[in-house]
Amino acid sequence: MTIMTPIDPEQSVKTCYSTWGTSYYDDYYTDKAPYPPVHRDLIRRELQKHAPKSLLDAGCGPASILRDLGDLGIDLYGFDLTPEMIAECKRVMTERGHPVERFWQGSVTNREHFRAPTGGPSVFDAAICVGVLPHIPAEQDSVVFKNLHESVRPGAMVMVEARNMLFSLFTLNRYSQQFFADELLPLAALREIAGEAKTESVLDGVKARFRMDVPPVRKGKEGEPGYDEVLSRTHNPLVAREQFAAAGFKDVEVLFYHFHAFPPMMQDEAPDAFRRLSVQMESNPRDWRGYFMASAFFLKGIAA
Ligand SMILES: C[S@@+](CC[C@H](N)C(=O)[O-])C[C@H]1O[C@@H](n2cnc3c(N)ncnc32)[C@H](O)[C@@H]1O
Repeated sequence: MTIMTPIDPEQSVKTCYSTWGTSYYDDYYTDKAPYPPVHRDLIRRELQKHAPKSLLDAGCGPASILRDLGDLGIDLYGFDLTPEMIAECKRVMTERGHPVERFWQGSVTNREHFRAPTGGPSVFDAAICVGVLPHIPAEQDSVVFKNLHESVRPGAMVMVEARNMLFSLFTLNRYSQQFFADELLPLAALREIAGEAKTESVLDGVKARFRMDVPPVRKGKEGEPGYDEVLSRTHNPLVAREQFAAAGFKDVEVLFYHFHAFPPMMQDEAPDAFRRLSVQMESNPRDWRGYFMASAFFLKGIAA
């Protein structure tokens, strides 16, 4: 999906997250969250399966995932781009007894930042990267995959999360229209063969079939740019898995989460059923319907 890349995407992402350090965990990981943090459970299950000794969380935010992994007996490390996020991460993790030097500020686009500035292993036993890829310019995706690959030992398990571009076919709203216009319709060729006016008619016809007024744009809390106002891309799982494999991962799997039992704009028709049926679908992250009905996915692979 074509999204304008701001001049300095990292700066605007930092500003977007600067007001979220202390409230992010409450917003998404506690009883106050609109939906249970099913992705955290998915990560826990995979970590328990692979039993790493050390874990790096690249883009760890306020330790929103790390803080709940303390009981697994893994040495936990993490870094994040946003100073306010990493400050909160350090506060939360040191409170739980983890050494402060295991958490630092850094960017997933810089290979050097995948090592703790003082001490720590040169390569990790496992790595996760959650909620970060949407903010990475398209041309840097493969850099991030490569950095993750180089930051772990051979045989290590890596999970990277992305927003599912194909979900836009199920939402029947302006995301669907964008997906048609940006990814599916052969617009340049159509313009050449049929001319501008006919091309516009086709585009208008597509637009007319979707609810163009939803979803509302998410704004910032204190005047800073909101999530939808900074670079927040979606990824095509079919394409992303190939890119992930090309970065050196084998046994690559796509694990879906945040299922929607019916298109979200219709959830108010039967809110309890919507939630219950959606949560039920989370039990199988390999369900093929995830390609359309899940708004997010993990790429999971083993470093070759
Ligand atoms: C949606 S939050 C996710 C936080 C945490 N990983 C989680 O899943 O709960 C996205 C995080 O990615 C961080 N981030 C964005 N771009 C980054 C980059 N280039 N390098 C490292 N972190 C980045 C932001 O600062 C923010 O804390």
